[in-house]
Amino acid sequence: MNYRHAFHAGNHADVFKHVVLLALIDALMRKDTPFFALDTHAGRGRYELVGDENGKNGEAATGIGRLLAASDPPYAVQRYLRAVATDNPAGRLIAYPGSPLLIAQAMRTQDRLSACELQPEEAAALKALFARDARVNVHASDGYAAIKALLPPRRGDIRYARGLVLIDPPYEARNEEYPRIVAALRETLNRWPQAAAAVWYPIKQRRSLAPFFRQAAALPAKSVLVAELLIRPDDSPLRLNGSGMLILNPSWQLDAAIAPALPVLKKTMGETGASTRLEWLKQEAG
Ligand SMILES: C[S@@+](CC[C@H](N)C(=O)[O-])C[C@H]1O[C@@H](n2cnc3c(N)ncnc32)[C@H](O)[C@@H]1O
Repeated sequence: MNYRHAFHAGNHADVFKHVVLLALIDALMRKDTPFFALDTHAGRGRYELVGDENGKNGEAATGIGRLLAASDPPYAVQRYLRAVATDNPAGRLIAYPGSPLLIAQAMRTQDRLSACELQPEEAAALKALFARDARVNVHASDGYAAIKALLPPRRGDIRYARGLVLIDPPYEARNEEYPRIVAALRETLNRWPQAAAAVWYPIKQRRSLAPFFRQAAALPAKSVLVAELLIRPDDSPLRLNGSGMLILNPSWQLDAAIAPALPVLKKTMGETGASTRLEWLKQEAG
């Protein structure tokens, strides 16, 4: 396991993923009843942008760094930028919040987050980050196994009716990752049918994703939505040309919440030939 997210923190793929993630979390907070979130591949939760690791690579500069200059952004982008600003109180961008931190910052006292991270150093950092937050459980273990261990979520008498499973793996062994994801989604739906589930996926050449979409659309979810941001044409199998979020059982009007953000992300972070996509692979009848 060689992947370290710090090199990529705050890049176009992170920005896109986290804008969508916060729209999903906000939808869960429309009701007072508690929600449960499972972040299967959580990372370390907070990334220093001024240190060596990111300085060398600077992916945040062409991601969040560019979005900061957006004038009059739509609500979904404003809301995301406000969340990132919470972690940068001095006004300068020095730290980037990962998915578990963004979820925890948004959550209320009644909500709960379980975050899994397999890499020991990343898991230790994540544990330290949430050491004083009783709403968050950090598991230094396999996120796919957590689906079986933790779902359906319960706390004492509380059975969570609503929630989210976020699956954001590193895709180090591409051929192995997609079958694991599809199995994990099937398991999630079996155990907790009313949950939403979101999978982040990289786009190098889009056509290679067709089997994944076919298999995801055949799962017993009520609806399946795909949102994508390509910062350049998907003509290179070697570069991360863009990324997507495949969402099972998205909350009502999630597509409407995300739609205005996509052109702004494209305009600020995209190069020539950039594009976006928001499409139902499967839609609830009626
Ligand atoms: C793309 S990063 C996660 C980024 C994070 N979700 C965010 O948005 O800030 C993927 C993480 O998954 C971890 N990882 C790899 N395999 C794992 C597994 N089977 N279970 C849990 N974590 C895993 C990696 O160490 C890495 O930190």
